[in-house]
Amino acid sequence: MKLKEKILNLLNEKETEFISGQYLAETFNVSRNAVWKAVNSLRQDGYNIYAVQNKGYTLDGEGIFTGEIIQSYIHSPVKIEYIPNVTSTNDIIMEYGRQGIEEFITVVADSQSSGRGRKGRIFYSPDNAGTYFSILLRPNINFSESLYITTAAAAAVTEAMKQLYNMDTEIKWVNDIYYKGKKICGILTEAHIDMESGTVDYAALGIGINVFEPEKSFHNDIKNIAGAAFCRSMFDNKIRCEITAKVIDIFYEYYKNLSDMTFLNTYKSRSFLTGKNVTIEKNGIVQKAFVKGIDDKCRLSVMLENGIEENLNSCEVNLSL
Ligand code: BTN
Repeated sequence: MKLKEKILNLLNEKETEFISGQYLAETFNVSRNAVWKAVNSLRQDGYNIYAVQNKGYTLDGEGIFTGEIIQSYIHSPVKIEYIPNVTSTNDIIMEYGRQGIEEFITVVADSQSSGRGRKGRIFYSPDNAGTYFSILLRPNINFSESLYITTAAAAAVTEAMKQLYNMDTEIKWVNDIYYKGKKICGILTEAHIDMESGTVDYAALGIGINVFEPEKSFHNDIKNIAGAAFCRSMFDNKIRCEITAKVIDIFYEYYKNLSDMTFLNTYKSRSFLTGKNVTIEKNGIVQKAFVKGIDDKCRLSVMLENGIEENLNSCEVNLSL
């Protein structure tokens, strides 16, 4: 790790505390001049580091959302590449997949101009509000098992919220996370399939979490559905870094042995649709159904109005009013 990164991590850890140049020099075994140069270089990168005579340095209390800080919270071998504004992090990761780049590189963005969700829907990704990231995966699985990437990721998001903030979030099968009745996260896995073998060549696992309300609020068309996990006035950007890292680390553990489905119990226990009456839309046909639960292949087990039971792999599901 470079001196710059070490200093940044320490200042971030100590939050509002001041740290003297002398302390930094001794801790990292470098000269005071080297510390001074590294701090200036961090300032040029856009970090607000204040210096007060006889006290030392401190980092802007607002917290920062950057790759270095996210990386410093990560314990798995995942490597973060932070790009402030992108079209879609999935676009970049699919391109990296084509280029043969190694598994687990993760692109994190502050905003996306063309963030997308399932079925070609727009995923609203304004700056300074959420975390939008995609992980490059090269799983050795058949296409039929690729659903487990999305379901493992959904379980990872709920588990991260529980471990970090004791929050009970729910999964709306198959890829949405809800909190207090509002959607706070969406997941989109896109994959390149090797047609000869029927296996997944590479995949982009994209996760978007509305950490705070957007500064200009949510668009009218999604206002009733979309929500944010936290109130901006009570937390700073550190939380965005923390969530991103925790979700990635938990997902990594689930993914290591994906076919063992160690995420399944979490996924099932967080299922929001279980025990509810819903409408399902499959091949253009809308039917009423009762959700019995999630089966061991992460399919939605339903009983249709005519009493027939089905395990659904994919379809549009909505709560009956
Ligand atoms: C959905 O709601 O249907 C899924 C939304 C997925 C959004 C994430 S944000 C990171 C990645 N990049 C995208 O363009 N989409 C995913």
